[in-house]
Amino acid sequence: MLAARASPRMDGTVMVALKKGKKGSARSLAAVRREAEGCRRCPLWKHATQTVFGAGSSRAPIMLVGEQPGDAEDRAGEPFVGPAGQLLRRALSEAGIDLASVYLTNAVKHFKWTPRGKRRLHERPNHEEVMACRLWLDLEIERVRPTAIVALGATAAGALLGAGVRIGRDRRKKFTSPLAPFVTLTAHPSSILRTPDSAARARALRQLVDDLRHVAAWVHGSKHDAQP
Ligand code: URA
Repeated sequence: MLAARASPRMDGTVMVALKKGKKGSARSLAAVRREAEGCRRCPLWKHATQTVFGAGSSRAPIMLVGEQPGDAEDRAGEPFVGPAGQLLRRALSEAGIDLASVYLTNAVKHFKWTPRGKRRLHERPNHEEVMACRLWLDLEIERVRPTAIVALGATAAGALLGAGVRIGRDRRKKFTSPLAPFVTLTAHPSSILRTPDSAARARALRQLVDDLRHVAAWVHGSKHDAQP
């Protein structure tokens, strides 16, 4: 059984404590990461700098799944280090979730882009590319065994829950899934950054924070449910 533990901290955040996993599971995740470095399962590797594998503890109780690395992530080799990542970190902090409790990854591990002058513009991955990359996501889920998986945006939600889900209608719902005790979805932080009106942007950020607060409460609650 998954044993996520959560406790309030001095700084007001909730440290959702790490599960006691087998030492070997961290090594296995590292092995999967090494394998993914040479991935040629779809053509996206050809124009990307590198595979951007997930980051975080192999015992994190919460896994957040984005769409694909952006320009900054492609260069850095780490997920969510660019503007969307900064907003996500702010939302996590406001929701009281410690970053140490989170494993960050993407549905697709290579940056898909199209040139626009000197810039590399994000291009949405297609169904085949998402499906080709699903192997790595499944292996990450299997190794991390999170209590809660949160799909950020439509691509991740489609990859994890099927094409029928809708962000506006289904956000914050708990889906029954073999992937984890709690699987849910919320808006992608990039969509918040793209919202032109500042009041609407602030509202969208508050909704994201609220959704994440619910996830923290589920994970916290599941620990208490599991107590003898
Ligand atoms: N957007 C994503 O979906 N993932 C990242 O890693 C960065 C931006």
